[in-house]
Amino acid sequence: MTSIVEPGSDAAAEGAPAPDADAVARRMQDPDWWRQAAVYQIYPRSFADSNGDGIGDLKGITSRIPYLVSLGVDAVWLSPFYPSALADGGYDVDDYRDVDPKLGTLEDFDEMIAGLHAAGIKLIADIVPNHTSDRHVWFQEALAAPKGSPARERYIFRDGLGPDGATAPSDWESVFGGPTWERVPDGQWYLHLFAKEQPDLNWDNPEVREDFLTTLRFWSDRGVDGFRVDVAHALTKDMTEPLQPWAELGAQDEDNQGLHPFWDRDEVHEVFASWRAVLDEYTPPRSAVAEAWVHADRRGRYASPEGLGQAFNFDLLQASWDPASFRDIITKNLTEARSSGASSTWVFSNHDVIRHATRYGLPLEQDRDGRKWLLAGGDESVLDRELGERRARAVTQLMLALPGSGYIYQGEELGLHEVAGIPDAERQDPTFFRSPGVDVGRDGCRVPLPWTTDGESFGFGFAGAHLPQPAWFGDHAVEVQEQDPGSTLAFYRRALVLRRELQGAEDFDWVEGASGDVLHFVRPGGWHSITNFGAEPVDLPVGSVLLTSSPLEAGRLPANPTAWIR
Ligand code: NOJ
Ligand code: CA
Repeated sequence: MTSIVEPGSDAAAEGAPAPDADAVARRMQDPDWWRQAAVYQIYPRSFADSNGDGIGDLKGITSRIPYLVSLGVDAVWLSPFYPSALADGGYDVDDYRDVDPKLGTLEDFDEMIAGLHAAGIKLIADIVPNHTSDRHVWFQEALAAPKGSPARERYIFRDGLGPDGATAPSDWESVFGGPTWERVPDGQWYLHLFAKEQPDLNWDNPEVREDFLTTLRFWSDRGVDGFRVDVAHALTKDMTEPLQPWAELGAQDEDNQGLHPFWDRDEVHEVFASWRAVLDEYTPPRSAVAEAWVHADRRGRYASPEGLGQAFNFDLLQASWDPASFRDIITKNLTEARSSGASSTWVFSNHDVIRHATRYGLPLEQDRDGRKWLLAGGDESVLDRELGERRARAVTQLMLALPGSGYIYQGEELGLHEVAGIPDAERQDPTFFRSPGVDVGRDGCRVPLPWTTDGESFGFGFAGAHLPQPAWFGDHAVEVQEQDPGSTLAFYRRALVLRRELQGAEDFDWVEGASGDVLHFVRPGGWHSITNFGAEPVDLPVGSVLLTSSPLEAGRLPANPTAWIR
């Protein structure tokens, strides 16, 4: 690997020092910790496996806390860890107030959170309020109860159409493909916006509302610092009949003015106001971030201080390698955050999308989501792996200099690419089964992490891995990168250490770039971030170079890196 840290590369591989007790206490008490946090997403089944069953678990996470400290992250967002049949990777929850026995116990959870807190790292739990799993006790009761019973009123049951009710109540399509309605033995149908194992809850039912407040308290009492709210924009629905035909409904991220029957309805904010009241019962108040794929103009409602407080912004995650789009998105989101009182969120990768090292290694236009490439089986002839890694580091460095929270998805700090070509027999994502096969799904970004160069499952555990790891994973292992001051891991560590110096102030100003291909902005303390999207090298302003995502060439910024200058 090339040397990418200039200067001070000798110190880079070591990462962040362990914080002292005062620093930990300050961080733990800070009510605004979430505003500028660097958050690391852990997909628990694929992070670290402590008992060799091929599935990552909570003890695995606890054992890797020193790694999280050395990375220099402020918080961990833990994807669902609740009991689940894994019909949708844990987003099908059987019991909201317990730990999946495959992942550990509540005691393991307590041990994990105590370890994180002792290291000054906050924990954000994923909460899934739109749907339960079909194994949840409520759904089992609903199936056993007759039509019209209170047990069915917790979900969205309807009679079918046609003389024998054999036609689904509407022609709506599930997010994962196929219909949104499933028929039960007595002839009724229930709604599921996602897989059929994920029946949608009825948020008009006060019992449902009350139960989620109990869940928020349950985890907040156990020390959880914040919540990531799954599909926050779908909870409340207008199921007035006749249901509108699918062809007349807009997409979830269009501005539907709150009139779509299930995406982004205005009433959903009553729910989140009641959540905010509970989150504010705690000291410091618990934070929350909405996963809401809504039109940018309507995002601020989710992020309001009277509601969840923050909302994901997926605009950069969907942006091509294009400075003008980046600039527009950044300006718009910072303005919006200022007006809602929230802070922005930035993310390039998560467990639902093709890894950004791969997206940015694809030809322009394909790089927005990479699905075409993945569907074609991951054609290596169109993927420039090296370029993708360079660009991914550059945009990550840019992101980490922006005001707001930056989200990092496990494995991106290793420069991991998407794993293409997973054999069909080994796939797990319901998208693959429901589309069927048209969308190969999200397993390629969920492959267990490589910790060591070789050995069983590259050190993920002492036996196998629940999704197959490709041979090239070993080259990206933590073990290799820790020895290399020029590695992507060393780069992330250095960037995160430096970022801490920026925390607190949210000022931001664009500076006219050296050319239209350059994005240049300045942060407090004369901190400049400059990204060269073009092909020609550009001059840098005078100052000391804190970090570059790829080496400078004769003191100039070549194509594709970001530099921080002060
Ligand atoms: C969004 C989650 O990120 C995704 O993984 C999941 O499949 C859906 N919500 C449904 O819960
Ligand atoms: Ca395990």
